[in-house]
Amino acid sequence: MNVLIYDTEEQIGIAAGNYMCGQVLAKSNSVLGLATGSTPLKPYNHMIQLYQQGAVDFSQVTTFNLDEYCKLDVKDENSYHSFMHKNLFDHINIPEENIHFLNGNAEDLETECAAYEERIKAAGGIDIQLLGIGSNGHIAFNEPSDSFQRWSHVVALKESTIQDNSRFFKSINEVPTHAVTMGIGSIMQAKRILIIALGENKAKAIKQLIDGHVTPACPASVLQFHTDVTLMLDKAAASLL
Ligand code: PGA
Repeated sequence: MNVLIYDTEEQIGIAAGNYMCGQVLAKSNSVLGLATGSTPLKPYNHMIQLYQQGAVDFSQVTTFNLDEYCKLDVKDENSYHSFMHKNLFDHINIPEENIHFLNGNAEDLETECAAYEERIKAAGGIDIQLLGIGSNGHIAFNEPSDSFQRWSHVVALKESTIQDNSRFFKSINEVPTHAVTMGIGSIMQAKRILIIALGENKAKAIKQLIDGHVTPACPASVLQFHTDVTLMLDKAAASLL
């Protein structure tokens, strides 16, 4: 694994934004796997800046987001659909039809998940997957459990994740209890993976990801088996290495 440690979140934003845009410069019709949360905000901001400076063109890019809440209107400000539009898509020239999300409001979620995998395959697979990591080692909504879930699926959110995410909602009771998420196999099929972690509360999960046993109790640990993983960490997230 390529482990890069930075002094500030700003530096990570620039490095990660450059990394993602570098992929698009190398292949104009790249397929990007994207993530939500506070971690990717600065990278997305830098991608927008590079676009505004005319350094990168997203007109042929396709994106697949990792996950989405179930039973939350996509127009709700807390949907990942809204997050991505507000923080990236509304500011770059990616065609709306090239943007893909799992539909957490689909009547038949299992069929929706299977169709999402087919859409990724039809697009040629994900060239680079951007990931955050949960304090409990989750990637996307693949929560700690006793087995790895391979493909996109429905998941009941862990109490700790509901707690972590409640900061964005008016009250914890409004946080959806279920989500649809790419599986570990969907993520591991990406050709390259870029994982970013900021802050001390991620340090334990990062240590386990790099040095620990590969176990579904820490879903991110499976990334040890991927051949092209780059980690961008601040000093706090790297403090246990
Ligand atoms: P965060 O979430 O970026 O808001 O810390 C990351 C994650 O839970 O995957």
